[in-house]
Amino acid sequence: MSNSFSYDEDWASMYEKHTSLVGRISEAEEAATFLERFSSGRSAFELGIGNGRVAVPLSERGVKVEGLDNSDSMLKLLAKRTDLIKACKGNIANFKSEQRYDLVYCVYGTFTLLYTRDDQIACLRSAAEVLNEEGVLVIEMRVPSFDGFVGGQKTSASLVDEENTFLVAELHDPINQNLTSTLLWFSDESVRRITERVRYVYPQELDAMAECVGLGLTERWGDWARVAFTDVSKRHISVYRRTSL
Ligand SMILES: C[S@@+](CC[C@H](N)C(=O)[O-])C[C@H]1O[C@@H](n2cnc3c(N)ncnc32)[C@H](O)[C@@H]1O
Repeated sequence: MSNSFSYDEDWASMYEKHTSLVGRISEAEEAATFLERFSSGRSAFELGIGNGRVAVPLSERGVKVEGLDNSDSMLKLLAKRTDLIKACKGNIANFKSEQRYDLVYCVYGTFTLLYTRDDQIACLRSAAEVLNEEGVLVIEMRVPSFDGFVGGQKTSASLVDEENTFLVAELHDPINQNLTSTLLWFSDESVRRITERVRYVYPQELDAMAECVGLGLTERWGDWARVAFTDVSKRHISVYRRTSL
């Protein structure tokens, strides 16, 4: 049985405002520019497509984008924005398609929402199987960091402005490489609570899991503008190609 997690209606209704506040909407065009390089005028498939934050600008550049998501609420948000993108309900840990793609991509840490190693490897295997010969898999995720954790826990204010305060409480389970984080979002109108569990992965482990399914790392960047990935990078964008299948 897969340990899948789905964005419910509550979270989906706040998603656009949340991504705007944390700067993720403003960088979507840059992400699309990066991804277009691997899919120009051709085909792409997004794992955990959500509301199309990145898929919509990519499709506006002439790329035929398709996607998968396990949340009806997120798929509804996408459908409201565009009818250019074909998206299906399904689990990124285990999917199949007759179609082969030039680009498969999974951004904004969505891969780590699969909180077991087995599901993560199964996701990479499914992705490798739907790539065409020259196709690439692009994954964006945070570099794990435990600065400020005491006794396996950390609480921080991740955003404070005139209208919003984000308090984030994180709990570390090192045995399963899981981080459970609860966001308390105080705004003028309400207090909301959003909990998420991820299995964090260091870049080296991601490369090793990718190798297991016949994918080799070809590029790694520190952001969508292709700044170099270094030992102080907070996230990475990794590009894999098929080595053998
Ligand atoms: C962090 S959001 C990213 C959404 C979008 N890709 C973006 O960049 O804004 C994660 C998305 O993945 C979906 N998701 C989480 N776990 C999933 C799973 N196991 N299978 C399919 N979709 C999943 C959620 O419903 C949500 O839409």
